[in-house]
Amino acid sequence: MATAAARDTAGSPTAQEAPAGLGDPAEFQRAFDAAVAADERIEPRDWMPDAYRATLVRQIAQHAHSEIIGMQPEANWITRAPSLRRKAILMAKVQDEAGHGLYLYSAAETLGVGRDELLDKLHSGRQKYSSIFNYPTLTWADVGAIGWLVDGAAITNQVPLCRCSYGPYARAMVRVCKEESFHQRQGYELLLALSKGTPEQHAMAQDAVDRWWWPSLMMFGPPDDESQHSAQSMAWKIKRHSNDELRQRFVDICVPQAESLGLTLPDPDLRWNEERGHYDFGAIDWSEFWEVLKGNGPCNEERLSRRRKAHEEGAWVREAAAAHAAKHRNDETGATRA
Ligand SMILES: [Fe+2]
Ligand SMILES: [Fe+2]
Repeated sequence: MATAAARDTAGSPTAQEAPAGLGDPAEFQRAFDAAVAADERIEPRDWMPDAYRATLVRQIAQHAHSEIIGMQPEANWITRAPSLRRKAILMAKVQDEAGHGLYLYSAAETLGVGRDELLDKLHSGRQKYSSIFNYPTLTWADVGAIGWLVDGAAITNQVPLCRCSYGPYARAMVRVCKEESFHQRQGYELLLALSKGTPEQHAMAQDAVDRWWWPSLMMFGPPDDESQHSAQSMAWKIKRHSNDELRQRFVDICVPQAESLGLTLPDPDLRWNEERGHYDFGAIDWSEFWEVLKGNGPCNEERLSRRRKAHEEGAWVREAAAAHAAKHRNDETGATRA
């Protein structure tokens, strides 16, 4: 967005606070609307409506929290990976998720909220993370099912976010999506090895897919007619496709992949619909989704208490890093003076 009024404004005034002499609030709103309509990026220094900012903070924070909580179910298997190769892949993947969290917390910071504040809201349950991470990883095959289905669903959701109207979020997504595609492929390859292995390994892969399929479909959020924020987010071009559109896209991608894997998807109603040009699929149990969201999933408590503990135990690292940064700044100042 490149209107002179918005560019010349230090910080990001709200419409009510738009400084005198730089145009009236309605002008700021018009410039914002025109930028969104023209598919231009909104940048941190541009004026934006308060509700747009609040929506982005909520969405980016939830996304960042999901990345770091999402490290837990898979980290559970790092020490028990069946080979050095698998261990190295899984460690790289889990580390990537920490990195995704960092890009996203940084993107949220450009909107004027601090990382401490966001983490505090996560730890006190005032902000959510994706419910998918409240399911347990019972066997090694779950690492494959998560990569194939959970990271696969994440990619389907996130590729359109690379064109999101808010610049820092869109740019973070470009790199995240590249890494997610590695995550998805390692999961697929892991499941393929199990599926073509012994009958026990095949059964383990099938069991994991049976447990992860429906929760993965829920990752796209409630149906369009029940989704609170969708319409406004689409008008602002934060979201580019509705929940149901993305869910359908994901199902259409997964069905042939499941066939190549030699595995079945646990849905008797899944069949190609010639007329629609899409796969039909069965009804999703939304009562399960709402229960997990309310905090009653199998691992909600475990995930949050582990996160809080990790945060407390990492306090000395944050303090040391801050002290080091302060010392570095002082050294630099000293050098300049000398
Ligand atoms: Fe990620
Ligand atoms: Fe991932």
